[in-house]
Amino acid sequence: MQPIILDVDMGVDDALAIMLALQSPEVELLGISTVFGNVPLNQATRNALQVLELMGRDEIPVYVGAGEPLVRKLVHAAAVHGESGLGDAVLPDPEMLPAGNALDFLIEGIQARPGEVIVVATGPLTNLALVEKKQPGILDQARRVLVMGGALAEAGNITPVSEFNSFADPHAFHQLIKAETNMSLIPLDVTHQLGLAAETIAARLAGRDDAIARFIRESTRTVIAFEQEHYNYAGVHLHDPAAVALGIDSSLFEMETLVLDVETMGELTTGQVVVDRRPFSDEEERQGYPVDCAMKVDVDRLMHMFEHRVLGGE
Ligand code: BDR
Ligand code: CA
Repeated sequence: MQPIILDVDMGVDDALAIMLALQSPEVELLGISTVFGNVPLNQATRNALQVLELMGRDEIPVYVGAGEPLVRKLVHAAAVHGESGLGDAVLPDPEMLPAGNALDFLIEGIQARPGEVIVVATGPLTNLALVEKKQPGILDQARRVLVMGGALAEAGNITPVSEFNSFADPHAFHQLIKAETNMSLIPLDVTHQLGLAAETIAARLAGRDDAIARFIRESTRTVIAFEQEHYNYAGVHLHDPAAVALGIDSSLFEMETLVLDVETMGELTTGQVVVDRRPFSDEEERQGYPVDCAMKVDVDRLMHMFEHRVLGGE
């Protein structure tokens, strides 16, 4: 089994990513670390505990990470994910308690099994940047670090040019890029191809009234309304589940190494991923750092995997 640590900011698609990991026999979920992002840190931690209890997996520990970005001001995304981060879903108060500090957990978890653990980050990159600062080189001891973040050629989703995770802590993202860890990016360019239509959710869950089915229906409602209003699309994009899917089956994606960096200061461009596409004959001349990026995704296979495992039904 593939040991995975999930680092999440607990919006709706983070919850779907946890559910995909839990429903995948290939995955050994070692623990979950939380970070501010879609919602404040306390809410993110509460959501993670609630989702684990919903899934009957309260043996999986949750660790508390960073509550604010390294430099810039806090930003959240209630408009997309609702005030709680989980849309209209109302889950019971969690009985579990957080198990400790996320930075220690990430460092010890990676060190315990060198070269084995995949870290999947689906929120701002603050925890990972702090871990790398505390113990330089630690992320290179992970098998892979899979980051849902950035928009390469695609328009942004929080500003005209920035994706939310990249925008929420661009300095942390920059630190990671600069550290040249074994990080792979799963940018909006591929996750925007992974639309889960509202009608598919309804059809797959038809006739079910168990707590998990109700959670999926109610948590996705706010995102669907947001997407409908702003993008004329009635559905949910599987941004964060895509990063988990890459950890499960890397043949779902085609990767390419691009030389890039992220803007940390621009008035209009903070959080923008800048790819140096100049056709230099000498690669060394490019500005930025080499990063492995997901460029293509097998949409049918990934959607089938997600629908079958998380939604069930036919
Ligand atoms: C990312 O931002 C959040 O809203 C989602 O959970 C995802 O991690 C997409 O830009
Ligand atoms: Ca997220």
